[in-house]
Amino acid sequence: MKRLLTVVGARPQIIKAAALSRVLRTAGYSDLQEILLHTGQHYDDNMSGVFFREMGIPEPDVQLDSGSGSHGTQTARMLSGIEQAIREHQADGVLVYGDTNSTLAAALAASKMHVPVFHVEAGLRSFDKRMPEEINRIACDHMSTLLFSPTLAGIHNLAREGFNVDYRGAYHINAPGVFHCGDVMLDNTLYYAEKAKRESTVLREYALNENEFVLATVHRDSNTDDPERLAAICSALAAIADSIRVVFPIHPRTKKCLEAIKTDERITRFLEHPKVKIIPPVSFLDITELERACAMVVTDSGGVQKEAFFLKKPCIILRPHTEWIEIVESGHAILADADTTRIMDGFAKLRSKTDFTWPELFGDGQAARFIADTIRSYFS
Ligand code: UD1
Ligand code: UDP
Repeated sequence: MKRLLTVVGARPQIIKAAALSRVLRTAGYSDLQEILLHTGQHYDDNMSGVFFREMGIPEPDVQLDSGSGSHGTQTARMLSGIEQAIREHQADGVLVYGDTNSTLAAALAASKMHVPVFHVEAGLRSFDKRMPEEINRIACDHMSTLLFSPTLAGIHNLAREGFNVDYRGAYHINAPGVFHCGDVMLDNTLYYAEKAKRESTVLREYALNENEFVLATVHRDSNTDDPERLAAICSALAAIADSIRVVFPIHPRTKKCLEAIKTDERITRFLEHPKVKIIPPVSFLDITELERACAMVVTDSGGVQKEAFFLKKPCIILRPHTEWIEIVESGHAILADADTTRIMDGFAKLRSKTDFTWPELFGDGQAARFIADTIRSYFS
């Protein structure tokens, strides 16, 4: 029996971990014991607890209370807690997701203890090291023994950084294995989309009609913490709301930042626009249903932009660049940054575009099974 310590902390990681936990609980994986550690990076029920309940993820075996704070403070709290958990639970490997401070802390703790790190969402790059996530993902990849890239672009990025992506021998931190395996988020969307359509009441709750609203989310620190960028995005969303309803599940970071500048008339116009509906963060079934039923997505979220693609919805990305470059290059999403004019032009362009093809860019919905099998054969 091998003991696999899975580390989650932020909302998207809990959601991603659900896909692999689901596989590990099926028959045939009894030789791998998953121990779940929650760093406590996200702690509100609608940012954490709801996903455990709705997606059937077991209660964490280890709960740290790292909470919010500066990058250094938050990461340091996690680092010592994870180190202790690796020791106490005698973990044989540590599984991490994505690019948050929880990912970085877990990879750092494990690699220094010579415990192999398995990184899901390896290889993704925005090529902007001012993003905290870019630092986290580069560092994590270079501390990993098994690297699972959802896309071919990720494989190319790793090759460029010196990884031997074709190596298939005995894997080690100095001879890591790199795998192109598809996206665990697609696994989740495929698994939950029908259930969401059947069971979610979110459309009824907010009196929303199919294809008659835009779904918008904003939480990236470069957008929320810069009042000018936040105001530019809000101006564009208010302009879009002049023609179609805008539904805005609000991240707690964004709520705080909007509150701080709510007297700015561009923010007031957005907050008080009769066709803008600001709602608390929603569950995974509800967001999946909103993504399926909307006319378009406007977002700076990594996860939401991809789910828009999975559910065949065009998307405006509120960033200067994206790690998911395939959806832009194939014409299904537009990079508009936090630029009011570019967002509105993008909205008009995607509203009139009809020649979408939705190619299979993110695998076949079986990424989690591939990852579980690869980890198992690493141990055998
Ligand atoms: C983090 C990740 C980001 C990811 C995002 C997913 C890092 C550096 N950033 O950003 O990559 O895209 O999660 O949502 O790891 N807050 C609450 N309640 C909560 C959680 C947060 O009120 O349950 C508030 C706090 O004021 C906190 C702020 O949100 O200071 C930011 O939270 P934090 O986890 O530091 O960063 P995110 O912006 O959520
Ligand atoms: N999500 C959710 N409820 C919301 C907003 C997002 O369940 O109100 C989900 C979304 O479907 C995706 C994940 O959270 O699976 C993305 O997380 P987030 O946008 O916080 O972070 P990112 O992906 O940018 O790191």
